[in-house]
Amino acid sequence: MLDIKGLTKKIKNNLILDELDLEVQTGELIHVIGTNGSGKSTLFKLICHIMEADAGEIALSEQVTIGALIENPYFMENSSAQSNLKFLADINRQYDEKLIRQLLTQFDLDFDSPTRLKKYSLGMRQKVGIIQAIMENQNLILLDEPTRGLDQKALTTFNRLIAELITEQKTIIIASHDNLSELNFTRKLRLENGKLVAI
Ligand SMILES: Nc1ncnc2c1ncn2[C@@H]1O[C@H](COP(=O)(O)OP(=O)(O)OP(=O)(O)O)[C@@H](O)[C@H]1O
Ligand SMILES: [Mg+2]
Repeated sequence: MLDIKGLTKKIKNNLILDELDLEVQTGELIHVIGTNGSGKSTLFKLICHIMEADAGEIALSEQVTIGALIENPYFMENSSAQSNLKFLADINRQYDEKLIRQLLTQFDLDFDSPTRLKKYSLGMRQKVGIIQAIMENQNLILLDEPTRGLDQKALTTFNRLIAELITEQKTIIIASHDNLSELNFTRKLRLENGKLVAI
């Protein structure tokens, strides 16, 4: 469903990704690790076309829709979680109030709360970021450090959500320094010297 060949990216004369290859099948749950600055977030930005590669190809199957949480998600700070999520989902005409209400509730957030995003804690923002990456039924989900700031209960909810999405044949790639031992990864890869190596 995702086929990356020879992906190369330089940032300010530093070679971040060096002819990186990655072939992902539908339904995989992949853990990408790598030291700070190894290029994990860069790889995700290239897959989402937020950034342009210098060389290489990223081929997606026709029906693939991408949901992504990369670094610090941008929100409308003076609006509520509900307004932010509605705004984002409406762009693709995929607003599903019932689902968003359910996801917020699962993460102990209140759909009807008027609290502005700027008053949210790190973990609360992270939850909203995770929700926007899955709320449109996206079938390729890229999560960059998704568990950052989550408390124990939210971690349990997160693990359950990921397991559910995998049973629905979603494809998920998670970049994380956390062990995430509760998740049944199909593969673990390390980003090292600009390439992904199996571990
Ligand atoms: N906008 C930018 N300007 C300059 N350098 C950048 C920029 N974005 C990324 N880099 C550089 O690209 C390299 C890869 O960064 P990237 O954010 O992809 O790493 P990462 O693996 O996600 O690290 P972390 O584990 O800390 O999140 C780093 O050396 C970083 O300094
Ligand atoms: Mg990163």
